[in-house]
Order: sequence, then C-alpha cells, then structure tokens
Amino acid sequence: MMSDPHARLERLTSMLRRRGVILPAFEIHGGVAGLFDFGPMGGRLRRRLNNAWLEHWATQGDIVEIDSPTITPESVLIASGHVGEFNDHMSECNGCGGAFRSDHLVEGFHPNPDVLAPKDLDKLISDNNVNCLTCGAIDWKDAQPMNLMFSTRIGAMKGGRTAYMRPETAQGMFMLFPALYHHFRNRLPFGAVQTGKGYRNEISPRQGMIRLREFNMAELEYFIDPEVESNHDFSNWDSCLFNLVPDPEFSEPIEMSPGEASAGNIIRHPTVAWFMARTWDFLVSVGIDPTKIRFRQHEGTEMAHYASDCWDAEIHGSYGWIECVGIAHRGCYDLAAHESATGDNNLRAWRPYDEPMEVDKMIVAGKGSVIGPAFKEKAGLVNSALEALEGMSPVFPFDLKLTDGTMVTIDENMVEEKRIQATEHGEWFLPHVVEPAFGIDRILWHVLDHAYDETEKGGAPYTVLRLDPSIAAIDVAILPLMEKDGLDEVAHDIHRQICSTRNLSSYYDGSGSIGRRYARADEVGVPWAVTVDHESMQDNTVTIRRRDDGAQVRIQVDELVENLAMSTISSVF
Ligand code: GLY
Repeated sequence: MMSDPHARLERLTSMLRRRGVILPAFEIHGGVAGLFDFGPMGGRLRRRLNNAWLEHWATQGDIVEIDSPTITPESVLIASGHVGEFNDHMSECNGCGGAFRSDHLVEGFHPNPDVLAPKDLDKLISDNNVNCLTCGAIDWKDAQPMNLMFSTRIGAMKGGRTAYMRPETAQGMFMLFPALYHHFRNRLPFGAVQTGKGYRNEISPRQGMIRLREFNMAELEYFIDPEVESNHDFSNWDSCLFNLVPDPEFSEPIEMSPGEASAGNIIRHPTVAWFMARTWDFLVSVGIDPTKIRFRQHEGTEMAHYASDCWDAEIHGSYGWIECVGIAHRGCYDLAAHESATGDNNLRAWRPYDEPMEVDKMIVAGKGSVIGPAFKEKAGLVNSALEALEGMSPVFPFDLKLTDGTMVTIDENMVEEKRIQATEHGEWFLPHVVEPAFGIDRILWHVLDHAYDETEKGGAPYTVLRLDPSIAAIDVAILPLMEKDGLDEVAHDIHRQICSTRNLSSYYDGSGSIGRRYARADEVGVPWAVTVDHESMQDNTVTIRRRDDGAQVRIQVDELVENLAMSTISSVF
C-alpha cells in the first residue's frame, strides 16, 4: 500500500503503543522526553534481540561477556576524557529559555552539522534566521558545550563522592583489562562484550526511540597488538557489496566488499573491516533489510575524543539514515589514559622478542636513604614496584600500586635515574582497541520499521509485523475455535505446555472471531497461530497457521511443541 511516510510512521508508533510494544514512560505523571517503556509485547522482544547479539559474538571463540556497574566514579570518567569532552553544543532561546542542540537547529543548512565548531553553528543559525522551535523567536545565546552525563553522588554528606551514570559500557571493559588478560592466558587478541543501560542527558530528545536519555547499549572491546598484522578471512563476504560512504575528503561513496575495501585501504584497519562485516551479518540476521544498511566513515572533526577512525553502520528507515552502530578504532587511548591517571601498570600486554636483546637503558630506582625511612617494612615492595615501571616515564608525584594492593605516593626526591645494561626478552606495551558499539533500541526500532507491512485484506487495511521468528516477543498464539465444549480447556493446556518449554512463549486469545484473532497476532508479529477445534479433542491435533502467507497445516500437539522448541516448525509446511 502506497502512503505518506509521515502518516505511516504515525500509524506504526500508535500501533506499538496500543499493543504494548513501546510506550512513553511515566505518562500518568506527564512523561519524560527520551524515556520509554518496553511493554508486555516489547520486553521479551528487546531481550531476544540482546541475546541474539550476545550469541552472535560468542561464536567467535575469543570473546567473553562481562558486566560492570552503571554508576561510575568521577576519576574514571575524568581519565577517559568524558568529563572534559563528552559534550554537545546547546543553543538557548533568549525569548523562552528553550534549549536545543545547535546542530539540530541548522539541519538542512549544512550536509553534516555535527562537524561544525560553535562559531560556525552560531553563524548558520543567524544567517538563516532560525526560529525557536518552542516560541518562534529569533534571538539566540551563543552555542555552549553541555556535558551529556547524568551526575550523582556515591555515599552521603561530606563522605560522598561525585559519580556519573555511565555514558558507555566500554570503560567497564577497560577497567577489567587485567582480569581479561589473565583469563586469556596473556595472549592477544581477545575481546569482551557487555550489554546494559547507558545514560546521556540529551539536550532536546526527539525522534522517538532514536534519541534516548536512558538506552540499551551492547558494546565489544577487542584488544589487539598494533604490531601484529591482523589476518582476517573475508571470503564469506566476497559477494556482498557494502554501501560505503568514506570521509568525503578521501573518496566518493562506493559499493565494495569488505575484503576489497580493506585490501584497498578504504577501510584503514583490517580489524575494523572485519567487525563491519560481522556487524552487517548481525543486522541482517535479526531482520534489517540489507539494502537499507550503509557504512559511513566519520569526518575528522566529527570523531569522538577517543577515536582515530570510526565507521558508523547507518540504517535507513522512517527517520532517514540513522547511526545504529559505531565501529571505532580507539587505539590505546583509554588504557594509556587510565595508566597515566592511576600509575597502575597492569594495563599492558607482553610482547616477546624473537631474540633476546642487549640494551643500555635508563631506569627509575628508589634511593635507599629515602625509601627505607619513608616506607619502612614496605620499602622492598616499593623498590620492586619501581623496578616494574621499567620503560615508563612517570610524572611526579605519582601513585604507585604495590603487590599487596596498597598505594604509595612517590615524589621526585625518592628516586634517581640510573643507566643500566640488561638483556631483554620482550616488552610491555599498551594494546590497541577496536570497538563495535551498538545502540540496541535504535536497531530494534529499525527492525520494527522494516518489519511493518501495511497491506490489504478484503479491501480493508491489514498490517503484518514480519519479525524474524528468532526475535518475536511471542512464538505462537493459541486460539480455541470457540470458548465452549472444552475447546478452551484444551487450548489452555497447550498454552501452558508451550510456556513451560524452555525459550518458548505463547499467548492465549479466545475473544472475537478467529479472523480478528489472526489479525491481532499478525499485527504484533506472532509468527505462528494454532487453532484448537473439535477434532483436536478427538486426536490431539491442531491447525498451525503461518503468519507470512496464511498457509495452514494439521499437526500433532507434541510435534508442534517439539518443532517450535527446535526452531524447525517451518519444516512442517
Ligand atoms: N562506546 C561508544 C559510544 O559511547 O558511543
């Protein structure tokens, strides 16, 4: 059915709300922009998408799942650069005090306003007489950076300390680098995944599920040795031409397989190309239309403060092209920042040399006359910890962690530089990180948008949500032909049997005509509907109907449950 895209978006949003998939949160208290609930038809859908994501990466074999706190002490986020750099520019209306993202105000006047400096944003706003979206005035304060993190306190009163709700899950993975390194027997490459909530105090959230203040993130940090050539096999994607939009400074948009793009240095790092390819697989596996995926490289001025290269997987839907995944090369930015902020020397990996090397080098050694009196029985531990700093150039004073876990402060007078001769077998280095970071809510939105099919039945509008059965909230609808003669009891029994089978969920619907009940199930994407009739009472068979084409097959109840549980139900058609 042809229709106006805005009207279609309205209908889709209203269906999702009416059917309890996605609803504005806290509505009876007036609601809050950027906060949404997943309702009775949304919670499991979101969890299944999340699980599909975790399972996708688990197959790689060198990736483990971790889970860290969402409340993050300020020092972590000062070190990571988020306290200083995690800003959007805000323009405030002098008329009504309304605040808006400056780059959003100039959309339509610049191809990529995200890259603009504040003075350029102000100029575009002024040159184009941009009106306030609330009161219509054309009177703006200069664009100001606004930090996007929600701050909080850990503890009470004077003993409390500042903290933030995490803006990304990534920092948790960096904090756990020593445990990951140990887990993987000190061998790179390896990765960690984490899913969970992230928080960003967006200036003016809009576009429904696209810009949220609390959202579901799914991130992977993959640690590599920058001096080891990555060897990825791209042959699975040889016939997949990706829609690539490189930084316009370097190239025009092109269609190319990821292997070719990596070999041709269009995608500069092979591991970034590898994760782009794996990302494409994931998106397609959960129902994203492959013709509506493109990879866009960030322009230099658009990149996050930690990234040296970044490709976004953008998906096209009702809001145009939307960034849903960012695949960033973070280099050693984060591990270096945390090492320098804490003096902790466990954030490095060991690279053995092919042959031992004789070296002449400067080291920092403790002055016995100062270390002994200053640290008494811990002097030996301090000297060992100083020796372990080998190769680092500390900035004084610095905190040093001893092997018993205590921290001591070292100032310039406590140490001296010494030239020594040594045989070295390898070196400690800061691993580099490639990070695919997924916005689960944005992906879920596009899954719904692409699955939403407005069609006609008997001359009347009819909508079907063509969700992939692997992520549909409900696997099967159980419909007694009528709620009498015991058919309802049999249907309830089948419903309970399915619900008590691992990983299956069904719902019972006994009200209205069977046609209306099929329509209700189709509208929210239930892939299979089972009708219980009088024959079922005789021979324990039911009719199963396929959502996507209405095809029907008679089947034994046990066979039904077994095939649903094994995800082989399509084979009975
Ligand atoms: N970790 C990626 C992001 O914060 O977007």
